[in-house]
Amino acid sequence: MGLILSIESSCDDSSLALTDIDTKKLVFHKKISQELEHSVYGGVVPELAARLHAEALPKILEEIKPYFGDIEAVAVTTSPGLAVTLVEGVVMAKAVAIALDVPIIEVNHLVGHIYSLFIEKEAVYPLTILLVSGGHTQVMQMRDFGEITTVAKTMDDSFGESFDKVAKMMSLGYPGGPLIEKLAKEGDRGRYNYTIPLSQSPKIAFSYSGLKNAVRLSLENATPEDYKDIAASFEHIATMHLVQKLKKYFKTNPPKNFAIVGGASANLYLRGKIEELLKPFGAKLFLSELSYCSDNAAMIGRVGVEMYKRGLFSDIDAIASSPKSAL
Ligand code: KG4
Ligand code: ZN
Repeated sequence: MGLILSIESSCDDSSLALTDIDTKKLVFHKKISQELEHSVYGGVVPELAARLHAEALPKILEEIKPYFGDIEAVAVTTSPGLAVTLVEGVVMAKAVAIALDVPIIEVNHLVGHIYSLFIEKEAVYPLTILLVSGGHTQVMQMRDFGEITTVAKTMDDSFGESFDKVAKMMSLGYPGGPLIEKLAKEGDRGRYNYTIPLSQSPKIAFSYSGLKNAVRLSLENATPEDYKDIAASFEHIATMHLVQKLKKYFKTNPPKNFAIVGGASANLYLRGKIEELLKPFGAKLFLSELSYCSDNAAMIGRVGVEMYKRGLFSDIDAIASSPKSAL
């Protein structure tokens, strides 16, 4: 049995996985999240995250010692992410790769999110992808492995980040996405008439800073009783912004296979609206299992398998703390 050990530490999740290279089966997967530790600050504190990774990663590594003899390569997230947390995973990857005398594979975190769709499965191409996470909001086209083009990006905040910021303004905690989604379920989506960002612009791009500021203004005169309506109206407009821009993009690029990935792809309101949007195209919607939407090492291992098969290894000495992936 040949295994890939994969390591993810780009933000606030310490995670390790073992993936069978031939069968793509996940032999081991563990993730230690730091949400509780960061929630008092309303967001991720990079130095605290780095310290927690330094504690958690070796603990998980201890559990997979019995598999050391089967490891054929180490795949590690090297970008994008927080430099101080990425380095924790990279240092461990280098140490294991040297000790076991196996190659190292640098994985791009965003490609990892895409391959969260294909954990223990075959990949599907071509694919139009909406990535919505705490750090990114973008639309990509993937023709084949390694052939990815970005067709639209956010100009400021990301979709998930805007949920985090709105939750922070309401003192709800972190991460804001699930908290806002829960509150929004009880609210009136039409009560606060926020403007859909960039709706007059022909550009296919995203922006969330204006919507966040509009929410800030409405919160000034709101009582906690109004919060659920604000959350519901915000979630509706944040989602309709994605829907409106995708609709525009689909006019010239009708989707065949469409996927939503990233931590915020867990949002059920968003999933529902995208399903409606795809219906007239007869496009197939791909979603990751809920447990693989947010950051995890299983998705990094899945990319690792593809890169291993293509011999996409890196020179250990050349890997800096946050270098570019080989993709
Ligand atoms: O992919 P991820 O775990 O980390 C990054 O790579 O950024 O995504 C985390 C982000 C956070 O901003 C979180 O608030 C958001 O995903 N998120 C959600 C939901 N669940 C997580 N946003 C909206 N609705 C959700 N249900
Ligand atoms: Zn992520």
